[in-house]
Amino acid sequence: MSAAQRQTSKPFLTDVKTLRDRARQHLSDGAITPAYGGDVQKTIAILQNVLATEIVCVLRYTQHSIAATGLSSESVKAEFAQHATEEQAHVQAVAERINQLGGRPDFNPEGLATRSASQYAEGENLVDMIKENLIAERIAVEHYRELIRYFGNDDTTTRVMLEGILGVEEEHANDMHDLLVAHEGKPMLED
Ligand SMILES: [Fe+2]
Ligand SMILES: [Fe+2]
Repeated sequence: MSAAQRQTSKPFLTDVKTLRDRARQHLSDGAITPAYGGDVQKTIAILQNVLATEIVCVLRYTQHSIAATGLSSESVKAEFAQHATEEQAHVQAVAERINQLGGRPDFNPEGLATRSASQYAEGENLVDMIKENLIAERIAVEHYRELIRYFGNDDTTTRVMLEGILGVEEEHANDMHDLLVAHEGKPMLED
């Protein structure tokens, strides 16, 4: 079998030598190889917004876990604190991915609220806090679903990471929804 025939019989696989050569040529690109289907700079810019969203989530849940008062607030505080810990894990994962892509994760507090998709809101009382968190989680869920579709097969690593995060945000939204029902006896947000 000639080299050309071998080439035609396996059209989608790059031979190991070519892969190694290519990997060596672009060592400064880090984890990004020529097969990366996305626009790296755009991916980094998107992930900086996701990072800001997650940082704001950590701040909001942490504040709520400390400042919540009122009837059965202890168990709600514990739930807020657990969510804060999980949001921190998201911060870590997103920042690591930005770094892998050759970007510098943006932790600058200046402009953080503007970069974030969800808002930082303290809430006047326990029910307000739960509502604020539910709203923020719904925004995050919508935003991440959209991003998962956007990345598709162009950047599977980023997509799979976001899918993992999305699953947790859906649980968070569900937890907040259940708390709202427990405290207000109503299943839906008023507005
Ligand atoms: Fe999160
Ligand atoms: Fe969340």
